[in-house]
Amino acid sequence: MRNKTALITGASRGLGKAIAEVFAKNKINLIINYNQSEKKAKELANFLQEEYQIRAIPIKCDVSDEREVEEMIKKISVEVNGIDIIINNAGISNDSILFDKTKTDFMEILETNLIGPFLVCKYATKIMEKGSIINISSTNAIDTNYPYSADYDASKAGLISLSNNLADSLAPNIRVNTIAAGWIETEMSKDLDEKFKKEEEKKILLERFASPKEIAEVVYFLTTEKASYINKSVIRVDGGYHE
Ligand SMILES: NC(=O)c1ccc[n+]([C@@H]2O[C@H](COP(=O)([O-])OP(=O)(O)OC[C@H]3O[C@@H](n4cnc5c(N)ncnc54)[C@H](OP(=O)(O)O)[C@@H]3O)[C@@H](O)[C@H]2O)c1
Repeated sequence: MRNKTALITGASRGLGKAIAEVFAKNKINLIINYNQSEKKAKELANFLQEEYQIRAIPIKCDVSDEREVEEMIKKISVEVNGIDIIINNAGISNDSILFDKTKTDFMEILETNLIGPFLVCKYATKIMEKGSIINISSTNAIDTNYPYSADYDASKAGLISLSNNLADSLAPNIRVNTIAAGWIETEMSKDLDEKFKKEEEKKILLERFASPKEIAEVVYFLTTEKASYINKSVIRVDGGYHE
């Protein structure tokens, strides 16, 4: 049986990197997509290839740019015999007071976090017969509201809706699920004000943020045969939230 291939967007660092590591350990070949972190993506690909004897191909692509996404999928189709798994992980946030946000600010978040996964799925599913798609959303899409992230929250709520539509369109050969992650220790959350962070930790039953690996293991599980009947679902991984 041939090894599977997974395309992970935004795999240069943070959660995407942790997902790449878990997949590599499980002998899955990887397309390590990055936008700006070229050095990190290339180093990660080299390390994973040597450590786990898999193929790991770094490819630069801004997921919000349709032409770049189309080019990335063309490159992938030359390198590998189809894709089995897509992880739409690339994402950005830009905290600011609601009415200080410009239309350009808002659009930038939507284009990366929501239009990006749409474009990746539109082109990548052309070279995907069977398999699994996981979209990385957030508990912000459901019930945690911050006054500073209206654009991010809307993008992640839209991503849940997009996932459900993708599941309808791609059944029965491709399962599509969404992770609604709570706080994760990555660069996205590293500049939080200490007082705010402590308040947030108090709202989590496990009293701490997740490590990227704790989310990555759930992402991997959802792509395996053990999760063969989980489809069109939103899986919350947030340590248990309470107000
Ligand atoms: N951290 C949290 O608390 C948290 C909570 C819930 C959900 N999430 C979600 O988890 C996902 C990963 O976030 P993270 O915490 O790992 O953040 P991070 O450390 O800031 O990493 C973001 C990743 O996204 C990539 N990226 C950003 N814009 C891109 C674009 N236009 N095209 C391609 N790649 C792009 C970055 O690649 P380059 O560096 O190469 O540009 C980087 O690899 C995001 O979707 C985020 O919304 C995070």
